[in-house]
Amino acid sequence: MCGIVGYVGPQACAPILLDGLRRLEYRGYDSAGLAVHAPGGRIEVRRAVGKLRNLESALREKPLEGAVGIGHTRWATHGRPSEVNAHPHVAGDVAVVHNGIIENHMPLRRELEEAGCTIASDTDTELVAHLVEREVQQGKDLEAAVRAALGRLEGAYAIAVLSAKEPERIVVAKSASPLVIGLGEGEMFCASDIPALLPYTRDMLFMEDGEMAVLEAGSVRLTTVAGADVEREPKRIDWSPVMAEKAGYKHFMLKEIFEQPRAMEDTLRGRLDREHGDVHGHEIGLSEEDAKGIRRVLLLACGTSHHATIAGKYFLEEIAKVPAVIEIASEFRGREAVVGEGDLVVAVSQSGETLDTLVAAKEAKERGAKVLAIANVIGSAIPRMADAVFYTHAGPEIGVASTKCFSTQLANLLMLSVWLGRRRGAITAERSRELVEGLARLPTTMKDVLQGTRQLVANLARRYVDARDVLYLGRGLSFPIALEGALKLKEISYVHAEGYPAGEMKHGPIALIDSSVPAIVLVPRDRHWERSISNLQEAKAREAIVIAVATEGDEEARQVSHDLIEIPAVDEVLTPFLTVLPLQLYAYYVADFKGTDVDQPRNLAKTVTVE
Ligand code: F6R
Repeated sequence: MCGIVGYVGPQACAPILLDGLRRLEYRGYDSAGLAVHAPGGRIEVRRAVGKLRNLESALREKPLEGAVGIGHTRWATHGRPSEVNAHPHVAGDVAVVHNGIIENHMPLRRELEEAGCTIASDTDTELVAHLVEREVQQGKDLEAAVRAALGRLEGAYAIAVLSAKEPERIVVAKSASPLVIGLGEGEMFCASDIPALLPYTRDMLFMEDGEMAVLEAGSVRLTTVAGADVEREPKRIDWSPVMAEKAGYKHFMLKEIFEQPRAMEDTLRGRLDREHGDVHGHEIGLSEEDAKGIRRVLLLACGTSHHATIAGKYFLEEIAKVPAVIEIASEFRGREAVVGEGDLVVAVSQSGETLDTLVAAKEAKERGAKVLAIANVIGSAIPRMADAVFYTHAGPEIGVASTKCFSTQLANLLMLSVWLGRRRGAITAERSRELVEGLARLPTTMKDVLQGTRQLVANLARRYVDARDVLYLGRGLSFPIALEGALKLKEISYVHAEGYPAGEMKHGPIALIDSSVPAIVLVPRDRHWERSISNLQEAKAREAIVIAVATEGDEEARQVSHDLIEIPAVDEVLTPFLTVLPLQLYAYYVADFKGTDVDQPRNLAKTVTVE
């Protein structure tokens, strides 16, 4: 769960590598480093613990000159964050950066130590450097040495390797961790993710597992690890570099919250068939016959994406009348879960790289289920293993707390439900048209809600910033939003929060309530409204500070709550798209007032490629 970057070309590489690492810092940020082919045939390394600015200071004190280099930003998995454990790792003439985990590191370490290697760090990565170095010592060129070393590795890796003997090239390889090659004019790049490369090129070559590549200024040669040549067309990525920047907002998270109307527009584009009140479903990868034959939908995801799948289950059952089950991916994998032919597995993941979701989806596929990925990162691992992929087009999400990807995941799950519902004869053309029109209006409505609630929510956050516990309650489609509101608050402001189905409160959590606990209760005008209002009153009767999120003009909600956040009246199926917005803003402002690191909260990383 780290970020790697590489450059080979005519320019001074250190600023390019640093810039790339800055855009990858969301992947991990406990230490960073660069290795560069310096004049005189040496590889020089600078490393620093902590955020990238520490490495930048180190480089100001002792600059690195050279036009070929690799860089790394780390999120510790083996060995605590320290300078000696920071990448790049060097053995003799070889330097390596690595993202992933080498599972057989213990026997490799023993073997290398017995062979007389001095291993300086606690990392698994340094072992890779020694393995390559030993092959180089035996006379192999860098490509052959890396190939031989890879044969010894078990686990996940994306690596970039330099050898002082071959100063004009970088050798990269990938297995189960992301790596993309950027094709420039007379220069080549590699990185763990697209945003790192966007200022330099839009032409990207996505590597597959079990592949390696030799990057030189004017060429890229892609092969399998076994040595067979691989031909692959590059893809042109339309994200602009500015899209990957903060665009004037204080934090990426705030920018991404306000980007949701645009993200929604991009995600809906070309998919709504407004003429027929339907959804264009070719990306879903099912024939009309398959759609009718589905026995059950199994939704797999983690974290925020899991919350989207809870809403997805409600959409699927209501609109497509297909049984739907939700599973947290880490709880599904490795279990004797009953899944197989006739099941449609929908694996939902922003990054498309979450290991638990990837492995769970693979297990389901092996047992005969069809896998549809809903992911945001093009060419990532889950879409690649899936039978079909229905991308969200939210653009790069840099803030660790997911926002715009959550709402676009909801959109894709709703579109999937409408498409299946029509094919299965589960909804009328009229109902389907209402939903499609409602979806088409969402970008504008979401914009209104964001603008209309921003100041009020910031004021509430200021008022309740010191609350030590916050309760979020909702029924039906508001339940996953209650969970999501609580998760957002926890992860960026470090305030304890619980999301509960409002009806469950009386079975336990009600004991938590006293006059110091704000309860954020979602009571949009839907079929659950009356019962939700009763739950709100129960909380109020126990002296909770009640903040209601209700439909405009709901006088009853106004009377029974201390504070009221209003959303416009929409089809009840669409309420989660709106109720989540003030909850995201609330978490953001509490965190900002507390002064936490909103975009890179402690202990978290954007892409979770560990188990
Ligand atoms: C929370 C958050 C995480 C992710 C989870 C899954 O804001 O971002 O809970 O949702 O790690 O990640 P993806 O969607 O990339 O599979």
